[in-house]
Amino acid sequence: MLSHYIHPRPFSIFSFRCLTSAWIFLFLGIWLCRCGSGQSTAARIKIDVSRISTGAIDQRIYGHFIEHLGSAIYGGVWDPDTDRLNPQVRDEIKALNPPLMRWPGGCFSDTYHWEDGIGPRDLRPTRPNLYWGKFGAEYGPDDSNHFGTDEFLSFAEAISATPYINVNFGSGTKEEAANWVEYVNGATTTPGGARRGQNGRVEPYGVKLWGIGNEIFGAWEIGHQDAAPYADRFLEFAQAMKAVDPELELVAVGCLKNYLTCPAGWNPTVVSRAGAEIDYLSLHIYLPEVIFTIAPKGRDDYYSIVASPREIEADIQTFFQEIQDAHGEDRIRIALDEWNLWWRYGQLLHSDFTLRDALFSAGVFNVLQRNSPPVAIANYAQIVNVLGLINTGPECHFLSPLYFVFQLYANYSEPFRVPVQVESETFSSRALASIKAQVNVPYLDVSATTNAQKNRLTVFVTNRHDFSPLRTRLEIQGVKPEGQVTLYELNASSFEATNTFAEPEAVKLRDLPPVKSGSTLVYTFPAHSLTALLFTTRPD
Ligand code: AHR
Repeated sequence: MLSHYIHPRPFSIFSFRCLTSAWIFLFLGIWLCRCGSGQSTAARIKIDVSRISTGAIDQRIYGHFIEHLGSAIYGGVWDPDTDRLNPQVRDEIKALNPPLMRWPGGCFSDTYHWEDGIGPRDLRPTRPNLYWGKFGAEYGPDDSNHFGTDEFLSFAEAISATPYINVNFGSGTKEEAANWVEYVNGATTTPGGARRGQNGRVEPYGVKLWGIGNEIFGAWEIGHQDAAPYADRFLEFAQAMKAVDPELELVAVGCLKNYLTCPAGWNPTVVSRAGAEIDYLSLHIYLPEVIFTIAPKGRDDYYSIVASPREIEADIQTFFQEIQDAHGEDRIRIALDEWNLWWRYGQLLHSDFTLRDALFSAGVFNVLQRNSPPVAIANYAQIVNVLGLINTGPECHFLSPLYFVFQLYANYSEPFRVPVQVESETFSSRALASIKAQVNVPYLDVSATTNAQKNRLTVFVTNRHDFSPLRTRLEIQGVKPEGQVTLYELNASSFEATNTFAEPEAVKLRDLPPVKSGSTLVYTFPAHSLTALLFTTRPD
């Protein structure tokens, strides 16, 4: 993508001392924007639909993750009182059009024995949560095992998501992993498939995507190992699992070089020893890299956080380069199977994300759309309660501001990336814990996608300016926009606005009145907002 930044004179309705003048200016601005008067604009976006990406964006980049941690499962997706899926949570997840769901962990997966979670529920053993229990009962309550393999896979079917299972490498064996594959995918003529049939599910689930271990490079992980023994044992697991189902696609553990916790040479060692059986190398990114001492607040932290997806983009590209250098080809793709902001342990119980963090997640999606492939998979960590998009309580629940970003991107993005050229004023951001300082970051962050027929074009625009709307000229080439543009906007009174049990709708999605479409459109993007513009187009 080409980017060229200019530095127009900043303008703001708040620079007026007199409130009356400010209102006049605001109304004038809206009128100018709606009428496309040809007045000078503060920013420009050029979209060229004649030069779309050859490969499609992998739709699995809008994926999710649930772990036996806090109340993600029991009290989240699963209602222990009724002993079934929570229908409201299920429907809210389904509304996100989730392409992929990873389970059962995370760190928990390296302690989980799947046979505890099959068969009649009243006969299943309750087990201590061996990983999260260390942090207290709120984080790792005892596990009734009522949400096991069949419940997870029925849940995935109910929300129309592709399941992704992480096997226990840490305290499990290759035989246990292979038996799990047979239980899930085997015909009823096999011992595992017959067991599944006895438990009520005759048809194999056909789960193709399996991870072997989680963060095994880290000293905190149960089963922690160095890269070479991990790679060699990964191969043993892969061979045993593929002997049951040769169609499996496997995810190996990777980590971001230069992160404190990533041992030097981890990725090259794993890829060069086990690359033949690796389809995806896993990457986890939490910013500001799980430093539990800060609570971001105020303008400077706002800019650090909304600029940080650029750092993620550089990290993803470095990671892919490392894989290619070690493997000598580009077959192995990236599974960014955990990503989020995270700065406080308590966020594992309920999320407290603000509009600022929602704009961060829009930036991450723009990065993923620009870098897929090679990013094939991405899983937001995690969908319910744990750093959650959905937060449940005994009486009511609320949706985090990030929920709406997922709703927009997963429902309205099209498969092919369209080149975008952005000219906008820029800002600098300072370092925040592990987030690096940045310069020359354009206020506008834009991603555009179209379908194969080129009759739909979706443009996502984030205005990261903390107080100034940006009057912008959009120019579309290569197709003819027709009719009206459908508009959705995510915004609130402040970038620190958040939803809570007491005030669940402080940040919400609004559908705006449509505007007349055309090859040129002048539109004012409000401060700290995300706008989705949905065009109907005709190929040139
Ligand atoms: O998402 C919470 C935890 O963060 C996961 O269990 C682990 O993989 C990561 O460190």
